[in-house]
Order: sequence, then C-alpha cells, then structure tokens
Amino acid sequence: MNMKALLLEDKGKAAEMKVGELEKPTPGPGEILVKIRAAGLNPVDYKTGNGGNPSWTYPHVLGVDAAGVVEETGPEVTGIKAGDRVVYHGDLTKKGCYAEYGVTTAHTVSLIPEGVSFEDAAALPCAGYTAYLALFHKMHAAKGQTILIHAGAGGVGGFAIQLAKNAGLTVITTASSSKHEFVKRLGADYAIDYQNEDFAKRALELTNGLGVDLVLDTVGRDNADKSLEALAFNGQIAFIAGPPNVNEAISFAHPLSFHQVALGSVHQSGNVKEQRTLAEMGDRMLALLKDGKLNALVEKVITLEEVPAALAELATRRVQGKIVAKIAE
Ligand SMILES: NC(=O)c1ccc[n+]([C@@H]2O[C@H](COP(=O)([O-])OP(=O)(O)OC[C@H]3O[C@@H](n4cnc5c(N)ncnc54)[C@H](OP(=O)(O)O)[C@@H]3O)[C@@H](O)[C@H]2O)c1
Repeated sequence: MNMKALLLEDKGKAAEMKVGELEKPTPGPGEILVKIRAAGLNPVDYKTGNGGNPSWTYPHVLGVDAAGVVEETGPEVTGIKAGDRVVYHGDLTKKGCYAEYGVTTAHTVSLIPEGVSFEDAAALPCAGYTAYLALFHKMHAAKGQTILIHAGAGGVGGFAIQLAKNAGLTVITTASSSKHEFVKRLGADYAIDYQNEDFAKRALELTNGLGVDLVLDTVGRDNADKSLEALAFNGQIAFIAGPPNVNEAISFAHPLSFHQVALGSVHQSGNVKEQRTLAEMGDRMLALLKDGKLNALVEKVITLEEVPAALAELATRRVQGKIVAKIAE
C-alpha cells in the first residue's frame, strides 16, 4: 500500500521536493508504525537535504521530529500499543517523517499526555532534547549557576532558556535586539545584542568579571571559541554546532570542561540504554508542557506542501522559535 510523502529525489534537491507516493513502511522487530499528525522542522533537514547521507536511497523522506498515533506494533514491542499518542526523534539515516506514516524504535518514543497537542509535541524533540541533554546530562546544570545560552530566539536556545530558568539558573542569552522581548518572555534575565555588542565582554561585565559557569553554544566554531573568554574558572561549555579549539584552550590557570552534544547519532550507537534517554527526556519535557511550565515555541503551523519553502526560510538562520507541519487532522 502507498502513502503520501514529501519526496527528496536526490542529494541537494531539497528546494524541489514535491508531495508524491511512496510505499507505506512496515515496522520490524522492536519498531512501531506511527500515523503522523505533525512534524517539526529543524536545521538538520536543510543541512542533510543539501548534503545527503551515505545510507539513503532515493527518493528519500526528510524529517526527524514526529508526533502521531501508533497504528501497528512490530514483533517484540512491549509497553506501546496501537492507538497510543506518541512523539519521537527519529533516526536520520532512515526515511523520515514528512509523510503520512513513519517507523521508529518503540523504546525511543514518549507518550503524549492528554492536553498536549500533536503540534506542540512535534516541536520538542530535536531542539528540546538537545537543550536538555546539554544542560542536564552533560553539564549537570544546577540552581544558582549562571549560563550563557547562544541564539536564545532559536529552537535549541529557546528551550534551553526555559529549562535553565525552571532549574533556578541565571540566564544570559544572545539575540538580535528585535528578539529581546521574546527571549525575556521565555525567562532570560539578560539579553545581549550580539550584532552590536561584544558578547564575551558583556557576559564578563554581567558576572562582575568572574565569568559564566556554563555556556551552550548553538552557533558554530568561532562563536564557541569566543565564548571561552566568558567562562569562569572551572567553567563548562557544551557545543552542538562545532567545537571550540580545545587543544589551544587547555590551560592550568583557567581549567575548563568541554562537552560535545550529538543527539541523533545515538540511534546508530547500538547503545539501548543511551537510546532510552530520548524517551526519558521527552517524558520530562512533555510533563513540563502539560503543567504549563514550558512553551513549545510554535510560531508557525504549515502544510506538508509548504515544508520546502519553510526549510529555505529556516536556512536563513533568522527564524524565531519553531515551525511545525500539520500532516493530518
Ligand atoms: N549537535 C546536535 O545534536 C544538534 C541538535 C540540534 C541542533 N543542532 C544545530 O544547532 C544549531 C541551532 O539549531 P536551532 O534549531 O536552534 O536553530 P534555529 O532555530 O534555526 O536558530 C535560529 C536562531 O538563531 C539565531 N542566531 C543566528 N545566528 C546567531 C548568532 N551568531 N548569535 C546568536 N543568535 C543567532 C537567530 O536569531 P537572531 O535573528 O536574533 O540572530 C534565530 O532566531 C543548528 O546549526 C543545528 O543544526 C545540533
């Protein structure tokens, strides 16, 4: 049987993707088939859409964040049943979720609590779990610390601000001035206009010259490098878009800790315990959403047909919050 899907006909052809027909997938052992209701858009889609991936066959389907209803469970699946409302961060080496149906591993999904919409749930995984992983699994962020979160108006930064604030940290973030009101509403104590200010100098001023305890860099190598100037003695940096120059930064006088975050590659790790953390992070963040302690950051809901144009917009790196595609009613 066929299904509707947004087809990527070849590497580099993301702008030309069209909705077409593809064989409906079947769940293998430990897997579930999900009827997708909403899919979240992420930078990884336009990056891999342009760069391709060695494990893909074409036509490929992009999309890593899905929310929907379990239609069928494969052999050896326990704890998840047909009819469950679930959200997941999929394996980008497999066919993705800009489609009517998706398949994923049962142990990496979270049940969506009543009262949380498919659109809000679909906005969470890639950006939200990355923020969660960086803050709590890697840096062990704790009450009383100060954190510098880059690109607070983006998906990862927007979730990180809220999680850090909920956990009792003082939050400094970077954003262009037109987005300062937005990041402050999310909980940032201070917003630095990185386009007109030296963010490292400003972060040092805001911490009386001591520096911040933690940095979450979401921008890239140069930004991560510069961020080291803003770190306190024994400070930590988590980077998700390229490492700082670690070898040059090692110093007896100013000892730092460096954390790499690569959320989705856990699918290829063969490490089931680590894979389960996707579900655990989802459970925690969905509970915060349900309790009104987290904003899902959904700024725009689009159709499947509108995904290619929205990915091009996302690639400008100016989008605020999250864009979600509604796939089915
Ligand atoms: N390693 C991993 O596991 C992992 C996971 C998730 C994402 N990522 C990567 O992390 C990056 C961020 O992802 P995202 O989903 O948060 O992206 P996003 O939502 O597209 O971020 C867009 C935001 O970035 C801000 N921005 C752009 N350049 C900036 C700069 N130099 N300084 C401060 N803010 C800046 C823009 O705000 P302004 O208009 O205010 O500049 C915009 O609102 C992407 O490269 C993504 O691929 C990696």
